[in-house]
Amino acid sequence: MVLKARGEIDLMDEANAIVHAVLDAVAQRVAPGVTTRELDALAEDLIRGAGAVPAFLDYRGYPATLCTSINDVIVHGIPSNLPLREGDIVGVDCGVLHKGYYGDAARTFAVGEIDAEARRLLEVTRRSLHRAVEQVRPGGRLSDIGHAVEVEVEEAGFAVVREFVGHGIGSALHEDPQVPNFGRPGRGPRLQPGLVLAIEPMVNAGRPGVSMDADGWTARTADGSLSAHFEFSVAVTEEGPRVLGRPEFAVAA
Ligand code: MF3
Ligand code: CO
Repeated sequence: MVLKARGEIDLMDEANAIVHAVLDAVAQRVAPGVTTRELDALAEDLIRGAGAVPAFLDYRGYPATLCTSINDVIVHGIPSNLPLREGDIVGVDCGVLHKGYYGDAARTFAVGEIDAEARRLLEVTRRSLHRAVEQVRPGGRLSDIGHAVEVEVEEAGFAVVREFVGHGIGSALHEDPQVPNFGRPGRGPRLQPGLVLAIEPMVNAGRPGVSMDADGWTARTADGSLSAHFEFSVAVTEEGPRVLGRPEFAVAA
């Protein structure tokens, strides 16, 4: 577990501010008829224009800047020439490398009008991330994060994906510890100031199972149900959680 100094966390805040600016721009562009490849090109231009580097491109051979995960795709959907359609949901995950540090965040967007159940899935998944962030404080336990996600999701009748987890983040995209989105509270290492975690609940509307496409990346719900994904990079500070790149999410200790 790598602990970061205040100055390093400030650089990670800059990296995540770039990521969130990209997600804001993508949110504006998402519409029926737009392709995920167009969203990917927009993201790459903005990242390079900010003097940063796309973090996912070429990571273990990954072929794009964004992951764009439509409907039953849980995570790691590869941008393509397929146009988005009215009623789709699309998860957009973005990572950058900036001044030696990584930023990583994701949101799931509605394409035009979506049905009530899809809207509820997005709302519950987003809220489960916020509940998780509320667990981030010095002396708290790692498993309190996943527990908070699981409670929020299961109360809503949805299912947490178990095959993919969040992670520490810093000068590497993936650092220890792993951050599951489920589990019993009060377990695992204590959270310490300087730890930075990418917390990323993946929530299926139906059963929790995962099925992998032949491309080796695209992870879908095994039952074909919708899936949503939201992610923040969050630093543990003496004052409580610091959602990097999103100063407006400051939570008082
Ligand atoms: N947010 C995801 C993660 O941290 C995105 C990784 S996509 C990959 O694992 F292409 F880089 F693998
Ligand atoms: Co991540």
